[in-house]
Amino acid sequence: MAALKGKKILLGLSGGIAAYKSLSLIRLFVKAGAEVKCVCTPAALEFVTPLSVETLSGNPLYSGLFSPKNEFKTAHVSLADWADLLVVAPATANTLAKFACGIADNALTTLFNAFDKPVVVVPAMNTRMYRNPATVANLNLLKDRGVFVMEPDCGDLACGTRGEGRMPEAETLFAYTAWVCRHFCRNEAGTNSGASAISSQTPCARNARPDWWSFYEGKKVLLTAGPTVEALDPVRFLSNHSSGLMGSCLADELSLRGARVYFVSGPGSCHPRFAPYRLLPVQTASQMYEASMELWPEMDLAILSAAVADYSPVEVSDQKIKKGEDGMLLALQKTKDILASLGRTKKADQILVGFALETENELGNARQKLERKNADLIVLNSLRNPGAGFACATNQVTLVDRKGNVVPQSLKSKEEVASDILDYVPALLEAV
Ligand SMILES: Cc1cc2nc3c(=O)[nH]c(=O)nc-3n(C[C@H](O)[C@H](O)[C@H](O)COP(=O)(O)O)c2cc1C
Repeated sequence: MAALKGKKILLGLSGGIAAYKSLSLIRLFVKAGAEVKCVCTPAALEFVTPLSVETLSGNPLYSGLFSPKNEFKTAHVSLADWADLLVVAPATANTLAKFACGIADNALTTLFNAFDKPVVVVPAMNTRMYRNPATVANLNLLKDRGVFVMEPDCGDLACGTRGEGRMPEAETLFAYTAWVCRHFCRNEAGTNSGASAISSQTPCARNARPDWWSFYEGKKVLLTAGPTVEALDPVRFLSNHSSGLMGSCLADELSLRGARVYFVSGPGSCHPRFAPYRLLPVQTASQMYEASMELWPEMDLAILSAAVADYSPVEVSDQKIKKGEDGMLLALQKTKDILASLGRTKKADQILVGFALETENELGNARQKLERKNADLIVLNSLRNPGAGFACATNQVTLVDRKGNVVPQSLKSKEEVASDILDYVPALLEAV
């Protein structure tokens, strides 16, 4: 993931049972081209060994505040200067409480106090500890001060119970860190890589969040993704090459920006990394239409990235269709147009974004689609551009809006394209 290439990451480990997952996280960071230095509390070293941490990170471990082994006498300050980002995983109830109070009694808590760049904390603990009013208050305080708090998963816990408090898997921690880094870490040019320039002192304290963040927080978003599948018989179907990756990237970006994502997803191999608010799996164009129409009146925004079948077979055979002597003609009927139907019932405060995949007269077709279907934005991609469209990790889109703006974008990863689209959407409301 490009966002972490060349980044300097400090990984803090405190004394939770989930510390073993952080060893995998170190590997993922290093594999992505980041430089990683680790800081452990004394309790963390009951769960992982210095040897594993140092071998995987390729750097000396910092754990003794007063250790004579420290290269600099004030390692907490020099490490804070060195790093672009601090990730604390797992963050114990104890360490979170110390962070919230400004206590600096070990290498990690002292470093946290000296750190003025983006910080991600990943609480991991037993459900009762997580729901303890002190922990809840500490986490809220840290959020208010601009710390990124990653919500723990719900699932089996090491104490033998099930519930909230489980540390997400390393791949999810990695994706979350990459997102924070993409939007909030400074790049070599000294500016934030994300859409908005934010002071490094408080990367996103609640009262200083960038516009695109506050725009999405709590918004209800209908998102369709993936292909649809139209059965011919119990064995065969009509479908298309959509993998659902563009939709999954949009779902993740929306969730990370605080939106409630109603994810209507056709069958596909790609799934969002961050659980959408509601997942509605569908198979056919007709099911996608029904789900979308039912949700739409309550939604603030709809983004229709699914590749929906325009036609479905008139008849679906109960039995496998046998091979005949001659060729075979297939009778097809038009499916209901989801974008046009949402456009017809769109309220003044709702935003409607459609996708158009074209192979010729791209811009003309996109403009017509925008008008005909009463959409606010069409995300146009052409199969003529190499690296755009189906089944690849990149896309090259042009944003076509109702004000007459046509904004071509360069070839980017689908994650970056998702981010660009969401950066663009808030301005659409002014135009409606
Ligand atoms: C086996 C075991 C597992 C523990 N797991 C957790 C945990 O997952 N989360 C947590 O907040 N505390 C956990 N604790 C308690 C912490 O280790 C304890 O509060 C310690 O003081 C934390 O120190 P630190 O925050 O400086 O690392 C665990 C303790 C033991 C003995």
